[in-house]
Amino acid sequence: MPMRIDILTLFPEMFTPFLGTSIPKRAAEKRLVSYHLTNFRDFASDAHLSVDDKPFGGGPGMVMMAPVLFDAVETVEKQDPRSATRILLTPQGRLFDQTLATELAGKERLLLMSGRYEGFDERIVEGLKPMEVSIGDYVLSGGELAAMIVVDAVVRLLPGALGAETGSTDETFADGLLEYPQYTRPREFRGMSVPDVLLSGDHGAIAKWRQEQRKIRTQERRPDLWTEYLKKRSEI
Ligand code: 6GU
Repeated sequence: MPMRIDILTLFPEMFTPFLGTSIPKRAAEKRLVSYHLTNFRDFASDAHLSVDDKPFGGGPGMVMMAPVLFDAVETVEKQDPRSATRILLTPQGRLFDQTLATELAGKERLLLMSGRYEGFDERIVEGLKPMEVSIGDYVLSGGELAAMIVVDAVVRLLPGALGAETGSTDETFADGLLEYPQYTRPREFRGMSVPDVLLSGDHGAIAKWRQEQRKIRTQERRPDLWTEYLKKRSEI
């Protein structure tokens, strides 16, 4: 059974090119996943098709309305008997990382809610109890790009998504280290050459060099990841 991913948004058209390109597209063609786009606007109940309103108590911006989100979620969830992991994209959420991507890749159904405006009525969080997820400490105009990032990171982890020749297991973050430097043709380019060891044919030496490079890079660029890596290793 393919994983089902529902995306609820005011801008489904933003997702169409993304879902129709590269790995996310191939994964759907291989029936590893199916995507279902829903427009919150279809669940507006007044004559103006409102999905947002001014915050009680005053303040800037608009707030996504609870009845619209509840109706949309309940309607979409009825379309499949599997229970969905509800995810609300918000800068208030848990920071998205490879650990969470792996966790979500193990679910049979995801339901992502992307909002615009200043935020969501708190009763959406209280009543629908979604997992609140943020993709980083910066402010986006809406949750759509964040939802695409989550979908991309999750779908590529589904078994078979990347094809037989390549896997997602020896990449950056799979074991907590950054990736080693890569080179391809030509051997010489504008005075810069490929490290000799990579041309040596000595697979043991190459593997050793790459692992060393990963450690050096991680120490230099991401001391936070390096500390985590050392901690994990000391536990083994
Ligand atoms: Cl999930 N949404 C918005 N609007 N901004 C963000 C974010 C999400 N994650 C980081 N910034």
